Amino acid sequence: MATWNLDPDVTHLNHGSFGAVPVEILDLQSELRVQMESNPVRFMLREYQPALETSRCALATFVGADPDGLVFVPNATYGVNSALRSVEDRLRPGDELVVTSQTYNACRNAVTVTAARSDCSVVVADVPFPLASPTDVVEAILGVISQRTALVLLDHVSSPTAVINPIEEIIDALDPTVIVMVDGAHAPGMIDVDLGSLGVDFYTANCHKWICSPKGAAFLWVAESYRDSAVAASVSHGYNDGWPGSGSRFHAQFDWTGTDDPTARLCVARSLAVIEKHRPGGWAEVRSTNHELVLAGRELLAAALSIDMPAPDNMIGSIAAVPVPPEPEPSESIFDPLMAALHEKWSIEVPVFAWPKSPQRLLRISAQQYNQLSDYHRLTEALIAELALG
Ligand SMILES: Cc1ncc(COP(=O)(O)O)c(C=O)c1O
Repeated sequence: MATWNLDPDVTHLNHGSFGAVPVEILDLQSELRVQMESNPVRFMLREYQPALETSRCALATFVGADPDGLVFVPNATYGVNSALRSVEDRLRPGDELVVTSQTYNACRNAVTVTAARSDCSVVVADVPFPLASPTDVVEAILGVISQRTALVLLDHVSSPTAVINPIEEIIDALDPTVIVMVDGAHAPGMIDVDLGSLGVDFYTANCHKWICSPKGAAFLWVAESYRDSAVAASVSHGYNDGWPGSGSRFHAQFDWTGTDDPTARLCVARSLAVIEKHRPGGWAEVRSTNHELVLAGRELLAAALSIDMPAPDNMIGSIAAVPVPPEPEPSESIFDPLMAALHEKWSIEVPVFAWPKSPQRLLRISAQQYNQLSDYHRLTEALIAELALG
C-alpha cells in the first residue's frame, strides 16, 4: 500500500489541482537529487538520458503509445503551448481554432495567442453544464465546426465541470484535415487512456495528478506526421545540434530544454509501479475505487444541496462538480469565500470556481486512495453550516 505525506489534520478533496505524491516516490526523488548533486556533470551527461528512456517507455506502455512519439514536458500547459507552436506554420489567415466554454483558461490563452500571431480567430463551443449525456458535448462542439476549422482543442476531462468528454466520438466526426489536440491533463491514471487507437494529432497530460508523480512531470504525445516539425515551447540545442543522447530530433527537442531539475520525470516509471501495487487489482481497481468513492461523495453533496445530479455517472472519473448557491456578495478575493471558509474554518481543501460566471459557482471534489467516505460527510457537514442549508 502506498503511504502519503499529507497533513492528517486536513481533509484533502482537491487531488485534481496538484495531485499528491506517495512517500516511496518522494524518497526516490530525494535519492535522485543526492545522486545528481554528488556529481552534476556525470548525472546530466551520462545518467540522465538512460533513466529518461526507462521513464518514457513505462509511461508510453501505460498510455498505449509508441515511445518514439512521446516526450516529457514539465506540465500540460507547456504541452499545449508546444503543440500549438508546432503547427503555427500550417495555419492560414482566416482559419478558425475551436475551444470550448470549459477549456482550461491557461490553455485557452495559449490558443488566443496562436490565433493572434497567425491571423486566425478563436471559436468557442458553448458546452452546457449541468448536462444530460455525452451527446450534449458532441452536439455543442460539432455545431461550431465549419469549412474554416483548422484546429480543435478538446479536454479529455474538463477542469471546472469535471466531466469525461466523449472525445472519441468527436474526433471520429471531424474531417481528417482538422488538427486535433487533446488536453488530457487529468486523464492518465483517472481513466484508461489508449493513444494508439484515439486518432489524435497531439495529446498532452500531467503525471503529477492521477499518476502521483512529483510536480514537473507531464508528457506530450505527437502523431508521426507531426514529429519532424514539432518544437518545444522552449527552443534549445535539439533544434539544430544533432541528438547525441536522444533517439531522434523530435525527442531531442524536448529531452533537453535547458538545465532544470529532471528528477520528477525520472520518477514516473516508479510512480506507475507504486500505484499499480496499491490494490490487488492494480490500476483498474485504483481507478474503479476512486470512481465509486467520488460518486458516493457526490450523492452526499447532492442530497444536502437538494440538487439533481448535474452529469451522468458514466461521465465521471474521480473528480465531480456540483453547483452550490451563488456567492451572496461579490468578493474582491481571488479565492471564493466559501472555498476560503472551508480551508480556514474547517481545514478542508476543496476548490470552488465561478461557473459559468460569478456569482454562479461550482464546487469540485476528488477521490484518491487516501480518501474515505467520512471525508465527504465532513464536507457535507461544513457546507450545511456555511451555506445555512437546512
Ligand atoms: C484540463 C486542464 N488542462 C490543463 C491544466 C494545467 O495543468 P498544469 O498547471 O500542470 O499545466 C489543468 C490543471 O488543472 C487542467 O485541469
